[in-house]
Amino acid sequence: MRSFAGRDILSLKDFEREEFFRVFEIAEKLEPIARNRRNTDTLKEKTLVSAFYQPSTRTRLAHEAAMHRLGGHVTGFADPKMTRAGDFYQESIKDTIKMLEYYGDVIVMRHFQQGAPHEAAKWASIPIINGGDGWGEHPTQILTDLYTVLREKGRIDGLTWLAVGDMRMRTMHSLGYALTQFDCPITFVGPPNMTLTKEFKEELKQYNLRFSEAEHVEQVISKADVILVEPVVQPDYTKSRDERGAQVNLTPANYKITRELLSTKAKSDAILLHSLPRMDEIPPDVDITRWSRYWQEAFNGVVMRMALLSLVLGATE
Ligand code: CP
Repeated sequence: MRSFAGRDILSLKDFEREEFFRVFEIAEKLEPIARNRRNTDTLKEKTLVSAFYQPSTRTRLAHEAAMHRLGGHVTGFADPKMTRAGDFYQESIKDTIKMLEYYGDVIVMRHFQQGAPHEAAKWASIPIINGGDGWGEHPTQILTDLYTVLREKGRIDGLTWLAVGDMRMRTMHSLGYALTQFDCPITFVGPPNMTLTKEFKEELKQYNLRFSEAEHVEQVISKADVILVEPVVQPDYTKSRDERGAQVNLTPANYKITRELLSTKAKSDAILLHSLPRMDEIPPDVDITRWSRYWQEAFNGVVMRMALLSLVLGATE
């Protein structure tokens, strides 16, 4: 297995099966620190730099919380408008990264341009973690989701997945790549104008992922062990910031997971994931049902980032 020390985490296309399990093993080992709300001194000599060119609640703060839990330091920006990348100068990724690499030991980057973290990795002498790039990928989110499945179901192989939402989303791409390493058939349900691209489907076929597409969650939910939902009413991820307009559309029933649907059609032991933020695709009354696992997912989001930071910074081999 390749070492994680000094490695960029840009895409799950790069991940081998045993590497997933190595990350999960470290996450499980570190989990008690977060569960007991303790901080250790494992990374006390290391600094995380957050470079967020797009809004985020979870991804940035989970990385920063993870760094604090491991005793490390945090610096960076949550809004490029406060930097020279977001004003008159429009400073390039290269020029920005050639500065940031001296301000810390690892950079987590979110950007509205697909491939921006890859561009950063070309110039940086320290690891870059992709915190979401345009419609590209969101590897740390899907690692979190897979870890949640492992913790909640005790296994990953042999489970049937249902993914609902906008199939152009970065999470869907990382999910597709990740599942190629497991025995997990998946059905994708998304609006016709938000379907998987032809190129991505070709790629998944080449990797032998068993996948199908359906039009309505009602047709397929009964087979699912894991239901992963993302919004279909959402911003344009290729914009640096997309404010909500006056008119907000409602999610069509085809892409909505309601309490009634779960209780009448879903397996009683299926689990429901949503990386959040949500619109109306999962109404709040689903939160207290036995299917919901998104709050566990939120906790695991910190644990997963602890594992990744520990690995890429060489604190764990
Ligand atoms: N799930 C997720 O990426 O959330 P944020 O946009 O808040 O980081």
